[in-house]
Amino acid sequence: MSKKVSRRQFLTYTLGGTAGFLASGLLFPMVRFAVDPMLKKGEAGNFLDVGLKVDEITDTPISVKFVIHRKDGWYEPPKGETMTAWVLKEGNEILALSPVCKHLGCTVSYNTNPQFKNEFFCPCHFGRYTKDGTNVPGTPPAKPLDRYETKIENGKLLIGPLKKA
Ligand code: FES
Repeated sequence: MSKKVSRRQFLTYTLGGTAGFLASGLLFPMVRFAVDPMLKKGEAGNFLDVGLKVDEITDTPISVKFVIHRKDGWYEPPKGETMTAWVLKEGNEILALSPVCKHLGCTVSYNTNPQFKNEFFCPCHFGRYTKDGTNVPGTPPAKPLDRYETKIENGKLLIGPLKKA
C-alpha cells in the first residue's frame, strides 16, 4: 500500500491549513472584542472605598477622586485611571455625581460661576445643573448628570459602577 501524497492532496492540506491559520488570526480578536464588554461588567460590579467618612458628607458637593483599574481593549494603564465624583447628601440619600457634562462631555464644576450660585456649571456651552445633578431647562444638556452607585460600609462611603441617566 502506497503512502504517497498526491500533488492535489498536498495542495489541499497546505492551503486548508494556511486558510485555517489566517481565519483563526481574524476570529480571535473579533471574539475577544465581543466578549470584552461582558468582562468589564464584572469588574464594574466592584465598590471602592474612597476614603470618605459618611459624617464628612454634607449638602455641599465635594469633589472626590478615586483610581480604578480596568483594561481598555488590550491596554491597562499601569497606575490605573483617576475618576472624580461630586459627593453630597440630599435629604437621607448620598449622591455621587459624574462630572461629565451630558451635552458634549466637558467637565462640570460646582459653584464656580458667580452668576449661578449653588449649581454645577459647564463652561463649554454654559450648561447648568442643580445641586442634585438635574439639568436646568433652557441650557444645552438634555439629561441630568450620571450617578455612581453608592454603598455605606462601616461608616465609610463606597463608590460603585456608573449608572447612565
Ligand atoms: S459640553 Fe457642557 S454645555 Fe456643552
